[in-house]
This record gives sequence, structure tokens and C-alpha cells, in this order.
Amino acid sequence: MGTIIEPFRIKMTEPLAITTQEQREKWLREAHFNIFLLSSDQITIDLLTDSGTGAMSTKQWGALMQGDETYAGSRSWYRFRDTVDQITGLKHIFPIHQGRAGERILSQIRLKSGDVVPNNGHFDTTRANIEWMGAQAVNLVIEEGKNFALDHPFKGNMDIPKLKRLIDDTGPEKIPFAMITITNNSYGGQPVSLENIRETKALLASHNIPLIIDSARFAENAFFIHKREKGQGKRSLLDIAREIFSYADGTIMSAKKDGLANIGGFFACNDDQLAEDFKNLLILTEGFPTYGGLAGRDLEVIAVGLLEALEMEYQIYRHATVEYMEKKFREMRYPLVRPVGGHAIYLDAQQLLPHIPPLDYPGVALVNEIYLEGGVRTVELGSVMFGNIDPKTREESPAPFELVRLTFPRRVYTQSHFDYIVDIMKNIWERRESIRGYRIVKQPPFLRHFSAHFEPVK
Ligand code: F0G
Repeated sequence: MGTIIEPFRIKMTEPLAITTQEQREKWLREAHFNIFLLSSDQITIDLLTDSGTGAMSTKQWGALMQGDETYAGSRSWYRFRDTVDQITGLKHIFPIHQGRAGERILSQIRLKSGDVVPNNGHFDTTRANIEWMGAQAVNLVIEEGKNFALDHPFKGNMDIPKLKRLIDDTGPEKIPFAMITITNNSYGGQPVSLENIRETKALLASHNIPLIIDSARFAENAFFIHKREKGQGKRSLLDIAREIFSYADGTIMSAKKDGLANIGGFFACNDDQLAEDFKNLLILTEGFPTYGGLAGRDLEVIAVGLLEALEMEYQIYRHATVEYMEKKFREMRYPLVRPVGGHAIYLDAQQLLPHIPPLDYPGVALVNEIYLEGGVRTVELGSVMFGNIDPKTREESPAPFELVRLTFPRRVYTQSHFDYIVDIMKNIWERRESIRGYRIVKQPPFLRHFSAHFEPVK
């Protein structure tokens, strides 16, 4: 095929900050070398996350004006509900203000100390909400998923024999629910196959353990199934999505990703009692169940966005962007997670910077270098985000990987923006051996990556 183009044209522009090297050095120092503490005026291209950072379509902006801000039973709620129902087929549907609100409520109503929640890969907020209840969050991705150099069409898959062993060893009564995350963000945005979801569900069902799908990037996952799974190439993405959700007892969706919205999400489930318990805590802490902490206009935007994310042309363009960047990075010989996932490129900072030990945070070193070089913000997924500190000894153990994620907002940047990033990365490659690590000088007890202060290692 020839050039794959962005299947949209630009109707409104937003200026980017063009900055100097001196400014960036000053700003990063003032932000205590933590890119989460930079402001957007200090950033040229922001690849921190694909969450809530997408551009809305004309259809979404039009829908936004239709927002019905009635407290209870608004028209926008019914439109939202009908769309979520069309995609998931789940019986009870609740809007939530974002994914972690659903994680918190589900954890609080179903988990207690000593419980275990398996997942192919918990996202950090999911893990934190589970651990907050004293339960244990276990990652059971297939072995291939942990080997970044290995090619496999569905590296996000759940390791079913391991799940079986966990259930046998723990006892199903201690597993109030199990999860599958599509795509598996914590392991490179890798997809999960339909077959794997089906088999996971069958195993869980035989022990009466409900399956909750974390569906933040369900449409990207559906596209991978369409492209890579045997017998799926002729199906529409909506059809595939419906089959995915047919195996779920419930789902938590952060609509900030494949909802193509800037805020929002939903929880949906089949079980009446679970819905009742969820609803009661939702009312107490988020809002009435027909808005769940969102404005009516947000519900409208999500209702349109969920279906736009399932449009084939959109997904073809989205994946072409990621593949374009993969090709460029491979030409530059950067070590990266292969094959590339759906929403990001993950660079292997440990392999790139072998002279920086894990607890000098090679991921943070690379992130900061990319910012200093060209004002591009990326994010560390390594020992700062996933490392462990022993509560008793205060001894720190590193994460099993040191990755840097270049996350692609949806429908926001053009090919020349990506070419600019490639130029920056070429310069960094040349001087990679002179890059130094960091140490933490201040950190909070949870989710430290958001607010820790760093200083360069001498
Ligand atoms: N699950 C997954 C797989 C996620 O990637 C995220 C968020 C959440 C749940 C939580 O949803 O942000 O709406 O509360 N991921 C973002 C990221 C923040 O950058 O990957 P949320």
C-alpha cells in the first residue's frame, strides 16, 4: 500500500511551545528533575500519556453541545448507556469520572486483606487500589510477554497454566475477581487474543471467579485481533469487541483512551448484587448513577468517541503511526519492546544505558535527556514507577525492567512532529554513553513517580 494518511484534516490549531536548551535546563531543575512537575508551556511535544490527551472530532464537538445537564435521567445518559450497551452487551452500566474511580469502588466493595487479584498486567493505579485494601495484585502475563526481544502476536496474553496454579494454591474463595487488561499497558501495550480471553473465562468460570476486563484500550486490542488472529480478518471491530465483552462478567473502562474523550469512563457488569453494591458507593462518593461524576456533555462525547475508536480507517492510521516510529527506532538501533503495541513505543533504557545501575534509574535518565534535547516529554516505566521498597528495612528493590514509554495521543500529532522526535533521538544516541543516572531526594509513600524529587548522580 502507498502512504497511509491521517484520515482527518485540521480545523483548529493549538500553538506548541518552542523552547531553548537553557530554558529547558532551568525548568527541569526547577521541576526537581521530575517531568511530571513540568507545565505544558514548557513542553513542545507531550508523549507522557495517551490518556485524556486525544483530539475530539467535529462529531464529538457537535455532540458536546447536545449535553443535557439534568441531574437524574438526562438524555445524554441514555445515549451513553445505549452505546456502551451496543458495544459491551453488559446488563448494568455506570458512568465513572475515570478508570481509577471504578478500580477504587470495585476494590472497596469486593476486596479484603489477604485476597488475591490476578491480572495479565495490573496498571499502576489498579495495583495501588487493590493493595490499598490489603489485597495482593498478581501479574500473570505469559513468559513471552516478559521477553522484550521476542516476537509473538499476542504478548499480552494471560498465562493460563499459571493462573490455574494460583487458583489451586490460593483457593478460589480468596480471589473475589480476576482481571484481564486489554491491551496490556504495563507490558508494552501488547494485545490479548480472543482465544486467550475465552480460555481464561472458562477457567475462571469453573471456579466461580468473575472476570473483570480492564478495557481502556479495547478498540486497539480489537484491531490487533482483526489483524493477527486466525479467522478474524473479515470481522468488524465492533463485532470483535462484542465478542470480547461477551466473556466478561464486568468491565472497567477509562474512556480517556479508546473513548477518545478527555475525561470519563464506565463500569459495567451482569451480576445484580455487584451492580447494587457498586451503585451505592458510586452515589456516596462520585455522583448519581446517571452521571457518575461526569457532566452530561462528557457522556455525549464518550458515546460518539467509543464508536469512532472502532472505525477501521482510524485504527489503520493509528497503528501506521506506531509502526512508522518503530521502523525509525530500529533504523537508529534503539533497543525496544517488540513487536510494538497499540499506543506507544517502549524503549529499553537498561539496554541503552548499561552503565547506569537500575537504582540510579536509567529510565528517568533517558526521559530527562529526551526533554533536555528537544522539549519532548516521555515517561519512565521502571524502578521508580514499579520498584519496591521494603516497609520494614526501607531497602529498595528494582523493577524487572527499565522502560521509557513514548505514548501517542490520539489524532493530535502529525508525521513531521514524529520526524522531529526522531531527530532528537539521533542526537541522544550519539552521546548515550555520557548520560548519567539520578537519585531520589524526596518521595511520597504511594505512586512516587508522580511527585518524587530527583537529583543527578555525581
Ligand atoms: N487501566 C489501564 C490499562 C490504564 O492504562 C489506565 C491509565 C487506567 C486503568 C486508569 O485509568 O487514568 O482513567 O484513572 N493509564 C494512563 C496511562 C494514566 O498513562 O497509561 P484512569
